[in-house]
Amino acid sequence: MSRKETKNTVKPHTEAKLKFYIHYLERYLPILFTTQYVEKINIYDMFCGQAFYDDGKESGAVRAFKQIQRVQKFYPESKTEITLTLNDLSKKRIKITKEWLESQKQTFLTRTHNEDATDLIKKLIDGINNKQDSKTRNLVFIDPYGYKQIDKLLIEELLRNRRTEVIIFLPINQMTRFKDKTLGDDIEKDFLPLKGFVEQFDIDVDTISGDIDLIKAIEQSLTFKDEYFATSYHIKNQKGSYYALFFITQHILGLEKIVEVKWSLDDQQGSGFNHTNQVDMFLEAQKTDELEQELQLYLRESKNNNEIYEWTLKLGFKPKHTNKILQKFKKNNKIKVEYFLNAKSGYHLNYSNYKNHLIKVTVQLIS
Ligand SMILES: C[S@@+](CC[C@H](N)C(=O)[O-])C[C@H]1O[C@@H](n2cnc3c(N)ncnc32)[C@H](O)[C@@H]1O
Repeated sequence: MSRKETKNTVKPHTEAKLKFYIHYLERYLPILFTTQYVEKINIYDMFCGQAFYDDGKESGAVRAFKQIQRVQKFYPESKTEITLTLNDLSKKRIKITKEWLESQKQTFLTRTHNEDATDLIKKLIDGINNKQDSKTRNLVFIDPYGYKQIDKLLIEELLRNRRTEVIIFLPINQMTRFKDKTLGDDIEKDFLPLKGFVEQFDIDVDTISGDIDLIKAIEQSLTFKDEYFATSYHIKNQKGSYYALFFITQHILGLEKIVEVKWSLDDQQGSGFNHTNQVDMFLEAQKTDELEQELQLYLRESKNNNEIYEWTLKLGFKPKHTNKILQKFKKNNKIKVEYFLNAKSGYHLNYSNYKNHLIKVTVQLIS
């Protein structure tokens, strides 16, 4: 097969990216579909590509369309309205996507655009911040070829209404490789966009020694000084190049769902896709050991169930991980546990208590 023919196929790292996006829809859409606080959901894929890859595999746009239909079928009584907006600057690609959409049975509203994503995002910001009903939720998927198409100020504007979540995919390796070219006063022209990125994201280049460091720095920057929850998922391809997905939300349940997605895709560490995908029990143990150590520090002062729930998710772990360690601490008499509101056992790390501000238990390290 010639190089050209293999060009636009779904490689394992592309598959990992699309799974992250679609698994999130799979987990979160049913929740939005069944809550009384949401009447409309809008999904925007700003760099949607064409409906199918050359190997026949479905793009994110097709997968999202089908996922929405699956959720609609599963909840026929739900009155929640849903829209899917697809955009790509390539006329050819969006034409193919539009034709595919038109060949499908329409059970919800779809729109296609052929614009520069930045222009469309600016229009969207105006719409969602000024004209949108409070019972609407938005998810914006931003999947460009490179960091040059990412503007942090626009992301901040997208999030400002607190009803919007954003997923961003970024090639990391090209940034780590040339990071040192952004230092000093005399920057070569080719590296000015990278310098702009580094400045926007407030990245201290001297502290970045590899791709994972850079991913963590971008993730931290995307919390906008802890105004939002942000998490990342790294993807390493066959050549060892790193990519990463970033997810930003104002809602802790969104964070919980994406943490579940991360652990469903990487059941050993919940942190990323490594193209070899080897099972290594050592990694899993190492990861939970890290959590145990962090928890010992965290519980030096008394913490309640809702604080521990939020802390766990922010570290990228599921409540069940912390729960297991707390049980171990209790068995070894390492913690003092006090119960309230008729609670008698367990640690009550869940969204329902968090949402309703129900403090059922406090925990503190004894020794
Ligand atoms: C990584 S691909 C997207 C893949 C797609 N999300 C999928 O699921 O297969 C990036 C896409 O961005 C499009 N693109 C490039 N520059 C763009 C721009 N300024 N605005 C919108 N789309 C752009 C390209 O035509 C390409 O289809």
